[in-house]
Amino acid sequence: MNDSTTSHHRAPVRRRPEGWTFLVEAARDLRTTGALAPSGEALAHALTSPLRAHASRPLSVLEAGAGTGAVTRALIPRLSRGSRLDIVEANPRFAARLRDLVAAHPHLAGASPKVAVHRTYVEHLSTDRRYDVIVSGLPLTNFTPVQVDRIMARYLELLHPGGVLTYFAYLGTRAARALTASRAEARRHTAVNEVMAAYQRGYATGRWTVWANLPPAHVWHLRRPLAPSRHQERLRDAAGR
Ligand SMILES: C[S@@+](CC[C@H](N)C(=O)[O-])C[C@H]1O[C@@H](n2cnc3c(N)ncnc32)[C@H](O)[C@@H]1O
Repeated sequence: MNDSTTSHHRAPVRRRPEGWTFLVEAARDLRTTGALAPSGEALAHALTSPLRAHASRPLSVLEAGAGTGAVTRALIPRLSRGSRLDIVEANPRFAARLRDLVAAHPHLAGASPKVAVHRTYVEHLSTDRRYDVIVSGLPLTNFTPVQVDRIMARYLELLHPGGVLTYFAYLGTRAARALTASRAEARRHTAVNEVMAAYQRGYATGRWTVWANLPPAHVWHLRRPLAPSRHQERLRDAAGR
């Protein structure tokens, strides 16, 4: 599964309200969907701030786990002429909505930023492209530690040296899991947090708390160093590259 559509390939169709679509998909598969509702504007704003820092030059941007496009809508107007946005979304119904969003967006008319929607898992995205900014909406705390490590290592590989990864983590998920989940599930969650903590120690440049979101979330910014870090070298050795 890795099909792509670039901007202006399809005519928009009428779709269900965004919140309803999200809830239906969460009921279908909460682990992959990762939330009951799309991100709010404040969270989308915090996630897209690295684009504002470089607003004047063309950027190569990857958005992973775009859902119904809550963050995509904040991203698109920030793309200057000559920029490129690759949107990766695993859920085919969300991917169809994203294609409609791209097809109808006024900022994408004419020879402006190029946007492509890829219906695939980000870890399966096959590309030689490197990105200035990666915005991840993936529900990493729902995955196994091995999956999370693989995805984070791939993000770093996909960034240009000096490029920035932004992602969010809902507040209080660990405490909620400790109360409601099995011991194995609580252990998995702790192990994922340890993987994330190693990446944060190696690459984080900032963390912000967005209270005006349901639920509130931390937004992290990680930067790929200009020269390979020791953490990256260890990752490369472990992968035999
Ligand atoms: C928590 S939602 C975030 C949606 C949107 N970015 C937002 O903030 O409202 C997570 C999204 O990631 C998608 N997803 C989960 N695992 C994925 C993967 N491995 N690759 C690509 N998308 C994935 C889900 O289908 C879902 O749309």
